[in-house]
Amino acid sequence: RISSNIREGILVGCGNPLLDISAVVPLDFLQKYSMNEDDAILAEDRHMPIYGELVQGYQAEFLAGGSVQNSLRIAQWILRQPRVAVFFGCVGEDRYASILKEKAQAAGLDVHYQVKTDVPTGTCAVLITGTHRSLCANLAAANNFTIDHLEEPSNKALVDNAQYYYISGFFLTVNPPSIMQVAATAHAKQRPFLMNLSAPFISQFYMAPLLAALPYVDIIFGNEAEAQAFAEAQQWPSGDLREIGKRLVAMEKKNPTRPRIAILTQGCDPVLLIQQDSVQEFPVTKLAAHEIVDTNGAGDAFVGGFLSQFVQGKSLDVCIRCGNYAAGHIIKNPGCTYSGEPEFVE
Ligand code: AP5
Ligand code: NA
Repeated sequence: RISSNIREGILVGCGNPLLDISAVVPLDFLQKYSMNEDDAILAEDRHMPIYGELVQGYQAEFLAGGSVQNSLRIAQWILRQPRVAVFFGCVGEDRYASILKEKAQAAGLDVHYQVKTDVPTGTCAVLITGTHRSLCANLAAANNFTIDHLEEPSNKALVDNAQYYYISGFFLTVNPPSIMQVAATAHAKQRPFLMNLSAPFISQFYMAPLLAALPYVDIIFGNEAEAQAFAEAQQWPSGDLREIGKRLVAMEKKNPTRPRIAILTQGCDPVLLIQQDSVQEFPVTKLAAHEIVDTNGAGDAFVGGFLSQFVQGKSLDVCIRCGNYAAGHIIKNPGCTYSGEPEFVE
C-alpha cells in the first residue's frame, strides 16, 4: 500500500510533450533514413516523411511519450495520489495535444502546457527492429517553449511551491533559460534539482548548456551510452562507467554541502549509484525474452519509479529498487505504458 499523503505539486518537471508513433519496421526502413538501431535523434527535413509512412504502411500505434512526461506519469501511477507532479511543456492546438493531455491526466499528472496555435504538437517516431528501438523526434511545438510560460503568476507559484525539480537533457535543445531559472530556484530554496543525460547527442552537440546547468544538478541520471558520450565529449581518458560516474559527481557544484549523485543504468546489468568515492550496485531482475514487449521507455520509467520514492523522502536504496521495478514493468508493456495496479513493495 502506498503510505503517502504527500502534498500536491511537490514535484515539477519540464520537457518535450511528444506523441510517440511506434511501429515495427524492417531494417531497410532504417537504412533508407540513414538511421541506426538504437539512435535517438532530432528529425531533420529528410526525416519528415517517416511519420506518414509509419501511419500508412506499418500499423503504427500512438502512445503518450516525451521523456519527462513519461517519467512523471510513471511516478504518478506508483504514487496513486493525483497531482503530486506538475508538468510544463509546449504543444499545439490539435488532436495529438488532446491525446497527450488525456493520457497525462488519466495518470494523475497536473499538466500545464504552453499552447502554440500555429504549430503542430511534437511527435517521436519509435522504429522497432527486434529488441532495438530507434527514436526520431520531431519537436515541432515542443521546440517553442518559452520562459514567459514559467513566469505566468500561476505557473511561477507552482515552481516556487515544489520541493523537487526534474528536467531532461532533451530540454537543453529547447530552452536553456527555463532550465537555468528552475535550477536557480531550486538552488535558492535548497531543494533537489535532478537532470538526465537523455541521449548521446546531447553531450555531443549541447555540451555548453549542459555544463551551464550541471553545477546545479544534485542527481544526474544516464545510461551507458549517454555516460560514455559525455566522457568522450569531455575527453576523459577512461570509458569505464565507474570512473565516468566518479568524475561526473566531482565536477563543479553550486551547493557543495550536498554532493552530487550519479545514477547510471546499464540495461539488465546492475544500476550504479555513485557518490563521491563510493560506487554501489543494484541488481536488475532479468526478464525472459518472451516477457519483453519493448524496452522503449525503460530509462524514463526507471526515473519515474525513483522519483515516486524520492519525493516521499525514501532512501536512495528504496528509490533505485522502485526504479528497477517500474522499468521492469513497462518493458512488459508497449512503449512507456503500464497495466494494472503498481505492486512495488519497499
Ligand atoms: P527511450 O530512449 O526508448 O526510453 P528510455 O526511457 O531512455 O529507454 P531505453 O530503452 O533507451 O532505456 P535506457 O537505455 O535509458 O535504460 P536502460 O536500458 O539502461 O525513449 C523513450 C521516450 O523518449 C519516447 O517516449 C520519446 O517520446 C522520448 N524522446 C525521444 N526524443 C526526445 C526528445 N528530443 N525530447 C523529449 N523526449 C524524447 O534500462 C533502464 C532500466 O530498465 C534498467 O536499470 C532496468 O531496471 C530496466 N531494464 C532494461 N533492460 C532490461 C532487461 N532486459 N530486463 C530487465 N530489466 C531491464
Ligand atoms: Na515498453
